[in-house]
Amino acid sequence: MRTRYVKTGIDILMTAGLLLLMGYQIWGEEAHEWIGTGMLVLFLAHHILNRSFYKNLTKGRYTPGRIVLILIDTLLLVAMAAQMYSGIVMSRHVFAFLPFGKGMALARRLHILGAYWGFLLMSVHLGLHWNMFLNMTKKKLSFTEKAKRFSGLPFLLGVFISLYGVWVFLKRDFPLYLFLQSEFVFLDYGEPFWAYYLDYLCLMGLWIFVAHYLTKFLKKPRKNKNKNRKKETGL
Ligand code: HEM
Repeated sequence: MRTRYVKTGIDILMTAGLLLLMGYQIWGEEAHEWIGTGMLVLFLAHHILNRSFYKNLTKGRYTPGRIVLILIDTLLLVAMAAQMYSGIVMSRHVFAFLPFGKGMALARRLHILGAYWGFLLMSVHLGLHWNMFLNMTKKKLSFTEKAKRFSGLPFLLGVFISLYGVWVFLKRDFPLYLFLQSEFVFLDYGEPFWAYYLDYLCLMGLWIFVAHYLTKFLKKPRKNKNKNRKKETGL
């Protein structure tokens, strides 16, 4: 039980860390590097605590849902590794003592790719595990009969957030950076803090929504198959 709380605490810190890191222009370079270093530690802890994922890779059936999960997790691992490596190479504060003279141009490109793909993949990763979060909150909050009548509201809210998220995705030039169509990121140093985070939270919400409903969709046929099998066998 205690490990569950530590795991959830680390997941929350990593989500907050990612949002802080994406707001490079708001917090400044030195803070960015320290938060990035903290993220590296959290990332290692997250992997140690979830090591059963690797142990179980050779066990069980590979359903479509499981294949998507493993694919996203592998891509996320690559993006994070690229991010840490490129960040350390470019570091002018925390890792400035390391002798990285060359490779700056490659590191800068990798850092852009890692940041934007990493943000997208981490949001999808969150969405793939969203049921776990929903189950945890459902256990904590006991819904009254009246509240249950409004159970469609979270879905509608999700649609609304996602539509705004699509707009943010385009307005903030994500396609440009995801496909490295620009060697530089255009950062607005004068933008208010709240406007930036409202946008990024909605963008994260969009990918959580997409991934959450994708898992529901991928699980559906298996349920029906089982139902049919039950009908056929009478079990
Ligand atoms: C998940 C981890 C990280 C994310 C999401 C992230 C994200 C970003 C973003 C969005 C930018 C601004 C856009 C750009 O110039 O590329 C940036 C710049 C930068 N980051 Fe990170 N970062 C991460 C980790 C790190 C680490 C660990 C370090 C070093 C310790 C670091 C050092 C830097 C530096 C030096 C810049 C300025 C690059 C330049 O001058 O072109 N980052 N990062």
